[in-house]
Amino acid sequence: MKKSPLEHILNQLLSGEFVSGEELAQYLNISRTWVWNQIKILKQLGFEIESSAKKGYKLISIPDVLIPPLIKPYLTTDSLGKKIYFFEELPSTQDKAKKLAEQGEEEGTLILCESQLKGRGRRGRQWVHVPKKSLSFSIILRPNLSPSEVMQLPLVAGLAICKAIGAHTNLKAELKWPNDILINNKKVVGILAEISGDIEFVNYVILGVGINVNLDQEDIPYELQDYATSLYLEGKKNFKRAHLLGNILMYLEYWYNIYLKEGFKSIRTKWIDMSNTIHRNVIVFLKDKKLYGKAIDLDENGNLMVMDNKNKIHKIMYGDVTLRNNS
Ligand code: BTN
Repeated sequence: MKKSPLEHILNQLLSGEFVSGEELAQYLNISRTWVWNQIKILKQLGFEIESSAKKGYKLISIPDVLIPPLIKPYLTTDSLGKKIYFFEELPSTQDKAKKLAEQGEEEGTLILCESQLKGRGRRGRQWVHVPKKSLSFSIILRPNLSPSEVMQLPLVAGLAICKAIGAHTNLKAELKWPNDILINNKKVVGILAEISGDIEFVNYVILGVGINVNLDQEDIPYELQDYATSLYLEGKKNFKRAHLLGNILMYLEYWYNIYLKEGFKSIRTKWIDMSNTIHRNVIVFLKDKKLYGKAIDLDENGNLMVMDNKNKIHKIMYGDVTLRNNS
């Protein structure tokens, strides 16, 4: 895809070296004033750029903004994020993604925003998004899977994102069934998969991901303080969201393709390796009752196997799980 002048200039600046205004103008076939105007736009967005009459422009620091030109240099994927819809403000990226999917947008289209006003989580819960600190996005997927297989997608996404976060931050990220990512036993990522189709056919899936990136302690609602954390709180430093997003999409695409090619068996063992749920005492909140037991395995379809106090084994396909300390 052809880059805009702004994207090209930014790409060149990301080398960290001085970039000549004259050469940029020649390459882009635009005037030097136009180049200067692009530099001004970058500065307004918060990029710190040194200008030298002799040497040109040099990037000093990058702001933590999510605009597509800043995301694109970090993208190494073939499909995920090839088309990006960015909005300053949205009620929910899920709803926008659904609309776009209905209009025929293709697999991999990424929808993200800086302020998400009505983010939603699993089971109708609210998802807290803090502008400039959270990373919230949705991706349109059109996998050739049956409705029962598609239930495995959040597990695949969880594994990929858990690996990406571990690699990007050096923090120990773990998976909580079905699709939360925890650090030090507190939630840092939530994943929501919404499916359109019927009992035989999957039309599309909207994979929504919310990440607490640079949230401070006071950004986390009081009632969630014991259960939620952020990469900043755990890593004691800020993380650039565009760079993190690039890495997440890379891991997502890699594991999604493996899953589509080889099925869930290739995911299962990796998921168990990173799990914080298997071998733990759990409470499973079912529709009308609570099940106390020990999570003993993840079966070949992604169901959680829980053994109760009478050694009876239950196959859990849906539900919320609370981890208890093993006694
Ligand atoms: C959960 O843990 O319950 C899932 C949370 C999913 C939140 C993300 S943020 C991006 C996307 N848009 C939403 O409204 N929700 C998902």
